Amino acid sequence: MDITPTLTELLPYATLAREHRLIERALDLLGRCCDEAIRTKTLDPAFARELLCFIREFADRTHHLKEERILFPAIDAKGFFPGCGLVSEHGLARVRVGKMAAAIDRWTAGDASARLDFIRQARSYINLLREHIVKEDDCLARVTAATFPVREQREALAHEFEEMERREIGEGAFERYASLVERLEEQERQSSGRAEQGRSPAP
Ligand SMILES: [Fe+2]
Ligand SMILES: [Fe+2]
Repeated sequence: MDITPTLTELLPYATLAREHRLIERALDLLGRCCDEAIRTKTLDPAFARELLCFIREFADRTHHLKEERILFPAIDAKGFFPGCGLVSEHGLARVRVGKMAAAIDRWTAGDASARLDFIRQARSYINLLREHIVKEDDCLARVTAATFPVREQREALAHEFEEMERREIGEGAFERYASLVERLEEQERQSSGRAEQGRSPAP
């Protein structure tokens, strides 16, 4: 049996890869939230706001900051940072999130056109972030492993990630935000089950 770790299982990248998997689950939820908004011609602002809270606090404030403030500069200091548009994509993602939040506010204030604006911004955000994550799991994982061949160097970076996360959003962030995603998945399962029942023909 081959027990060689893959590049995404090596610290410090393993921390980011685990977060990518959680962020992808939130993107799946956001995609289905848009499908539902199309189907029902309405928008569930409470659900959309909780997803935005996850995106702002977890995906951006801890995950993207670990990359921007710790990993990218550390690779850059060795002269190997490939760029690949990663930092500008974080900026673009923040703009999309701001526009999604504004669309939800407009929707709750009674502006019916805000629903389609939300869907447009959300779908654009989903595509952007999915491609961004694929690029990182492919290119950034390899660059990180090659730039820090010594295990202690990699562990020191993983430790910096933990410290920064604790400072920014407190202890146990991954577990807290994983349970938020689980709760939203469960909520979505229940409401789609109710919608299914509503659509089934009477016995
Ligand atoms: Fe990133
Ligand atoms: Fe990332």
